[in-house]
Amino acid sequence: MIVAVDGPAASGKGTIAKAIAHHHGLPHLDTGLLYRTVGLAVLRAGGDPADAGDALAACAFEEVPASDPALRSEAAGRAASVVSAHPAVRGALLQRQRDFARRPGGAVLDGRDIGTVIAPEARPKLFVTASAEIRARRRFDELERLGLATIYEHVLADIRARDERDAGRDAAPLVQARDAVLLDTSDMDVAAATAAALAIVAGA
Ligand code: DC
Repeated sequence: MIVAVDGPAASGKGTIAKAIAHHHGLPHLDTGLLYRTVGLAVLRAGGDPADAGDALAACAFEEVPASDPALRSEAAGRAASVVSAHPAVRGALLQRQRDFARRPGGAVLDGRDIGTVIAPEARPKLFVTASAEIRARRRFDELERLGLATIYEHVLADIRARDERDAGRDAAPLVQARDAVLLDTSDMDVAAATAAALAIVAGA
């Protein structure tokens, strides 16, 4: 079983994907971390995420530095969103995502284009969303927990800019796959959202 979990920034898709993976004993890939790794490497090298050459040069990494707290920062998320619009970057990261999806035994992947581009054959597909204000509040709380000082209005503006960039780009834009089930978590806490997602998977 390949489970695709797509949705905008801070919709809860990562938490939901982890819960599905745990429940079904499947490996999980947070594909946003791949783009964050590229975005962060460009920033650290003093490059420009909007420059396709700078971004492509940062794609040859072996492993995601998952324990680096900077990977979860707003700066890394913003840079990830910018580098992810370059078709060459998406191409460079495509195969490792496809290989993960097609592992024998199945996998759970979360991102923006899992159900549309990376694994169109995935069943089930979930499209997880929530209002921009609620997503900003969740991201703000998460950043505070990580000890990263921030301002709610900045997080909200950033979420809106990110939605526009992720949905407006030409290369694999954020869009709900036609056969994806919509899960709006605006009025749900983590437990309710997770239960709803597990029910969708069970019914698929
Ligand atoms: O899910 P996230 O916030 O960690 O993702 C960071 C950025 O990476 C997001 O704004 C767009 C990009 N991304 C993408 O283009 N395709 C994916 N499958 C995952 C993330």
